[in-house]
Amino acid sequence: MEDVKIDPWASDHSTDYDLITRKFGLDQINVDELTNPSMLHRRGLVFAHRDLNVILEAANNNSPFGVLTGLMPSGRMHLGHTMVIEQAKWYQAQGADVSVAVADLESLATRGVSLEKGRKVALEEYVSNYAAMGLDPEKTSVYFQSTRSDVQKLGFSLGRRTNLSELGSIYGFEGETNLAHVQAPLVQVGDIVHPMLDRYGGIRPIVVPVGVDQDPHIRLTRDIVSKSQWFNLKAQRGGGLLLSLSIQPENFDVFGMAESGRVDRKIRGQVFQRIHDLLSNLGYADIASNAKHGTVTIPAATRRDMISIRSHLAHLERDMGGLGLMAPSSSYHRFAMGLTGGKMSSSKPETTIFLDDSISEMRSKVKKAHSGGRPTVEEHRRYGGDPSRDVAFQYLKFFFEPDDDELRRVANDYQSGKMLAGEMKVMCADQAEIWMSELKENRDQWSDRLGEFLAPDAA
Ligand code: TRP
Repeated sequence: MEDVKIDPWASDHSTDYDLITRKFGLDQINVDELTNPSMLHRRGLVFAHRDLNVILEAANNNSPFGVLTGLMPSGRMHLGHTMVIEQAKWYQAQGADVSVAVADLESLATRGVSLEKGRKVALEEYVSNYAAMGLDPEKTSVYFQSTRSDVQKLGFSLGRRTNLSELGSIYGFEGETNLAHVQAPLVQVGDIVHPMLDRYGGIRPIVVPVGVDQDPHIRLTRDIVSKSQWFNLKAQRGGGLLLSLSIQPENFDVFGMAESGRVDRKIRGQVFQRIHDLLSNLGYADIASNAKHGTVTIPAATRRDMISIRSHLAHLERDMGGLGLMAPSSSYHRFAMGLTGGKMSSSKPETTIFLDDSISEMRSKVKKAHSGGRPTVEEHRRYGGDPSRDVAFQYLKFFFEPDDDELRRVANDYQSGKMLAGEMKVMCADQAEIWMSELKENRDQWSDRLGEFLAPDAA
């Protein structure tokens, strides 16, 4: 297969979504399986995931689950940044609590933004828009990487579960890479898992909505979490599940491993009794344990049962002194094209619309935007335009036109030549004006209440 690497810090990510999906083993989102698909789902813009079933099941059962996402406060907030917040908002509507990291350590490490500057930018540019976009302050908590020591401690201690070659192969780090940059992904691992700590809501499924450029961090986190777990759970070929102890220095004592390598039968027996109790409480009667080998088979359990067994095992692990983490789920959005037809980038203002651009700035940007129309009106009428390459249409689709039928009509009219490129731009700018004015109004309304969105350690 072609060599695709995703560099989460590059401004030009690959947009070959099929290739990325296959190469990294993402699952496609099936809209029919969602109860209340959002606009982004219906339009295929949130298109892939890892273990989303865990989250949907929690939502269906009204059991707690959380969202953790984050943004670097490196520049002004623009359209591209709204997509993770839109995703978070949807999960929140399905019952999630939401934590948003201000990735100020990452901005410092990778963009040289000082923590002071990062704080200012976060409060003025980001948090005000999170509020304006409609996150619920009762169930939203914005924190700073730099002031949440639990995140840093986790990042540090979980760093023991990886090494430079793994980071090198995931991120392309080399000898010249500065060490702050190497630490940044570990801090992000800390971000992603910390909501499972007791102090931040405890063990529950966590979903990370992100742009697909962030998948390397998700892979790293899931890998590290699985290495940290004290119990492995696998589906067996012939059916049933196999549970095995993952013996590591952290649990030598608890799992009855003597220095000599011998197994302390009494301690091991107690561990197995606890596993047995856990499984029989879950309703499994047929449980075959081999305490000496550290394995348990549960013939009647199926793949579907893994979610609930895993969460119980996480509790047991934590009870025994382990971290008790579960692998995070994730969902991925596509990237909207930049205004000039290439990539959108905050360092190139002409490629995007900032959320606090004035209406006239926005209008002039849309007017100049790359179009999918034909060079002459005559040709356009005859052959029609290409909505997939038309920025104005794409922004209606990604951001500004909430009505699916209307969007479909516009796409058809454009393709048939009935609608001209200039008309598409006017429509985009009109809808954007409505969207941006409402956002601004909301920002003004929330301006002296932003504290409600901030975690206690962020104030
Ligand atoms: N790396 C993300 C970015 O480039 C920001 C981020 C930090 C983040 N921590 C996170 C995203 C945790 C999702 C989850 O913007």
